[in-house]
Amino acid sequence: MNILSAKNLNKSYGSIQAVENLTLEIVQGEFLGFLGPNGAGKTTTIRMLTGMLPPDSGEITIAGLSSDRKTDIARSIGVVPESRGFYDWMTAEEYLIFFARLYDIADCKKTTNNLLDQVRLSDRKNSKIGTYSRGMKQRLALARALINNPKILFLDEPTLGLDPQGQEDIQKFLQNLNRQGVTILFSSHLLPEVSALCSRIVIINHGRLIASGTISELQQQVHRQESSLKDIFFLLTKNND
Ligand SMILES: Nc1ncnc2c1ncn2[C@@H]1O[C@H](COP(=O)(O)OP(=O)(O)OP(=O)(O)O)[C@@H](O)[C@H]1O
Ligand SMILES: [Mg+2]
Repeated sequence: MNILSAKNLNKSYGSIQAVENLTLEIVQGEFLGFLGPNGAGKTTTIRMLTGMLPPDSGEITIAGLSSDRKTDIARSIGVVPESRGFYDWMTAEEYLIFFARLYDIADCKKTTNNLLDQVRLSDRKNSKIGTYSRGMKQRLALARALINNPKILFLDEPTLGLDPQGQEDIQKFLQNLNRQGVTILFSSHLLPEVSALCSRIVIINHGRLIASGTISELQQQVHRQESSLKDIFFLLTKNND
């Protein structure tokens, strides 16, 4: 069963067509890798799927809701966006309680402390977010995204800029979450990362979907000499910034 269907999405910024005729389906419970090089249209797509940016055309249904049901959609999804926009002067606990109240969570303090525990920030929950390391901020962004117990979680390059330990922390956490039934869309520009994590991968380039399947299906397509896919596979394997 699909938890998300997006049909023929288009988005331009002036003369730049960021997303072109993109059709995407996410099956409930899957861990989908959303892969593409810089400028491919990953962030634009995620912003449209999560209701933050209206598409120029196309249709999106998420958790059975059409895209005009913005409030209901916001209540059923979690997002770790590309730009996090923290309130640096707040402590992590204050920050999560603030969001828990926005979502009308019944027991804000208990939910917040439980999440801080899960992302291993309990011992620093009373420190100002401005004093956090990049990895800690990333784990806090994850906790914020989970405050409403979402059915589907969208993560826009959540491991970017983290050291290997920080990356592994996030990856293991997400794998565990997925085992508990949360559907995940994980964007990245690194093929090795999504191959290790994801049950299925969608590759986009220049705003268009160019391939989708399990890693072995994609490898077979590359072997069949589909040259544009071969080039992009090479780029996404090499690109390691
Ligand atoms: N607000 C904007 N105004 C104008 N052009 C934009 C804007 N946001 C994105 N673009 C352009 O749209 C295209 C897709 O950008 P997008 O940020 O969606 O790609 P991305 O795959 O997320 O890239 P990255 O890996 O660098 O984060 C790029 O050509 C980008 O320059
Ligand atoms: Mg991006």
